[in-house]
This record gives sequence, structure tokens and C-alpha cells, in this order.
Amino acid sequence: MILSTHLVRTNRKQRASSLLFVFCLFLIISCNKEVTRPLTALEARGKSSYMSNCIACHNPDPRLSGSIGPDVANSSFELLSARILRKTYPPGYKPKRETAVMPALPMLENDIPAIHAYLNSFKN
Ligand code: HEC
Repeated sequence: MILSTHLVRTNRKQRASSLLFVFCLFLIISCNKEVTRPLTALEARGKSSYMSNCIACHNPDPRLSGSIGPDVANSSFELLSARILRKTYPPGYKPKRETAVMPALPMLENDIPAIHAYLNSFKN
């Protein structure tokens, strides 16, 4: 009788600790912000173009400010075209910085749709 009560108690303790373990695992997984959906082919092309052409000045994580350039995640197609092709802004757009350091990069014209797709992949 004493033995069986002891066994039940241990099992309950074990069950409680495995439940706690599963709960912690769930918390860790659900709090991990890096768990995102995989990029589409177009977004992946945009990411590699961004990493090659933009991160000298912008942050490798486009949601953050870079060494010289501001955050650029969620930029519109019009803004990217104006900035990359013509070194201008769309009419009425209020720039994040007053400076005019960024050169036009017209050779990247064909990459703009991909860069746009990548920079807009951060919306969930
Ligand atoms: C030589 C450094 C440099 C490079 C390379 C560069 N940028 Fe910039 N970018 C800047 C700076 C600095 C600004 C702030 C305005 C200015 O001074 O021209 C800016 C502004 C911008 C803006 C406007 C942000 C806003 O909302 O006001 C966008 C969009 C942008 N860059 C995208 C890009 C993309 C995409 C690339 C790569 C294809 C790129 N930039 C390459 C330095 C750079």
C-alpha cells in the first residue's frame, strides 16, 4: 500500500515535469521571432540583390537603420523605382533623411521587382 502510493506520487511528479517541459518548449518555439515562412523565388532573388548592392549603407536587416542609410523594409514599388533609377522621391513622399548621399543605381532596373518583393516580405 505504501509502495503503491509512492509510485502514484512519483508518476504525478513526472507527469507534471514533462508537461512543464512541453510547455517551455512551446514557449521557446512561439517566442522565436526567426521562425518565418521561407522566401519565394522572387523574394530570394531580391534578397541576394539587396545583400550585394545595398548593405554597404543599409542594414543587412532592412527593418533596422544601417551605417548610413535608413530602414527600408516595406518600401513601396514607386519609392524604390524613384530612388534607385532617378535619385528622386515619389510626389508628396516625405523622405526619412534630408541628406542626398545615395547614388542612383540604374543598372539595377531589372532587380527592382525582386528587391520590392524581398523588402515587403517582412509583413506577416
Ligand atoms: C552609398 C550608400 C547607399 C547605397 C549603396 C544604397 N543606399 Fe539607399 N539610401 C542611402 C542613404 C544615405 C539614404 C538616405 C537619403 C540619402 O541621403 O540619399 C538612402 C535612402 C534610401 C531609400 C529611401 C528611404 C526613405 O523612405 O526615405 C530607399 C528606399 C533606399 N535607400 C533603398 C536602397 C536600396 C534598395 C539599395 C540597393 C539597391 C540602396 N538603397 C543602396 C544610402 C545608400
